[in-house]
Amino acid sequence: MRQQVNGHISGSDAQAGESIREELQEFLGGEALLHQLDDLTKVNPVTLETVLRCLQARYSADTFYTNAGCTLVALNPFKPVPQLYSTELMQEYHAAPQPQKLKPHIFTVGEQTYRNVKSLMEPVNQSIVVSGESGAGKTWTSRCLMKFYAVVAASPTSWESHEIAERIEQRILNSNPVMEAFGNAGTLRNNNSSRFGKFIQLQLNRAQQMTGAAVQTYLLEKTRVACQASSERNFHIFYQICKGASADERLQWHLPEGATFSWLPNPERTLEEDCFEVTREAMLHLGIDAPTQNNIFQVRGKATPLTCGSGDGQPVL
Ligand SMILES: Nc1ncnc2c1ncn2[C@@H]1O[C@H](COP(=O)(O)OP(=O)(O)O)[C@@H](O)[C@H]1O
Ligand SMILES: [Mg+2]
Repeated sequence: MRQQVNGHISGSDAQAGESIREELQEFLGGEALLHQLDDLTKVNPVTLETVLRCLQARYSADTFYTNAGCTLVALNPFKPVPQLYSTELMQEYHAAPQPQKLKPHIFTVGEQTYRNVKSLMEPVNQSIVVSGESGAGKTWTSRCLMKFYAVVAASPTSWESHEIAERIEQRILNSNPVMEAFGNAGTLRNNNSSRFGKFIQLQLNRAQQMTGAAVQTYLLEKTRVACQASSERNFHIFYQICKGASADERLQWHLPEGATFSWLPNPERTLEEDCFEVTREAMLHLGIDAPTQNNIFQVRGKATPLTCGSGDGQPVL
C-alpha cells in the first residue's frame, strides 16, 4: 500500500507511482500487439486496466480464450463460432504432443485433464471447475467439455465396442437438452439460464474410454414454477409443451389451443430452446419411452388436472 503523509504520497512512493504510470503507457502504447498476449501473466504491469485492455483486444480479434497461469479465461463471443468447436480441432488438441503450446482453448484443459488421468500409475480423479457470473458461458463450456470427451474418450477398437461407445456418447450428450428443458429458464441476463447447479461425473475405464456418466443436480430454483420476475420466464419445458404438443396431446393434457397461462409469462418470446421435439428425442435416447414421457408431460393432481381454470376463466398452469 502506498504511504501517505498528510494526504501526500511520500517521495519514493511517488517515484514508484510515476514509474508504474510510465510502464502502463509503454504497455498500452503497444496496443496493436496486445491481442497476441495469450497469457495474462505476461501482462506487465498487472493492473485492472491492462488486463481488461488485453482481453478486450483479444475479443476484438475474435480470440476468446486466454490463459491466466494454470487457469483459462473464456470470453463469451455471443455469436456462433463453429470452427472453434469442430471435431477436427478436438482431434488436433488430442493428438498434439504438447497441447498447452497450442492456442489457449477449453480443449487444452480437457486434454490435459484427460492425460493426467492417463499418465498416472493409479488413476486419479480429475476435476474441472467452471465458474463465472450468469451468462458468462458456463453451461456452454460444460457442454463443450462433454462433447470433447465424447470424441476423444470414445475410441473403440471393435465393431461391438463402437456400438456401445456411440450409445454412451449419445446418451451423455442427450442429458444436456433434458436437463436444460426442465432446469433452465429465460432470465434478464441469459435466455438459457441454468436454475440449478450440477456436478457432472464422467466415468472412464482403465483404457480411458468413457463408460458412463452421473449427474448430480442441486439447488433447483423450484419457486420459479409459481413466481417469475417480470420480463423473465418459467422453465423452458412448459413453453415447449404449449408450443409443441400435437392436437391429441393438447386434448389429453388439457391445453386448449391458443390458451394463455398466468404462470407462463412472456410466451411470445420465442427462444431456440423452445423446441419440444429436441427434448423428446433426447429423452427417448436416454431410455425414457413415449408412454413414460406422456406420464411426465400430463402431470396432474389426484382428482383435478394441474391445468385448471382461474376465477376469471383464465387457465392457470
Ligand atoms: N463459446 C461460446 N460460443 C458461442 N456462444 C456462446 C459461448 N458461450 C456462451 N455463449 C452464448 O451465451 C449464452 C449464455 O451462456 P451460458 O453458458 O448459458 O451461460 P451461464 O451458464 O454461464 O449462465 C449461451 O446461450 C450462448 O448463446
Ligand atoms: Mg448456465
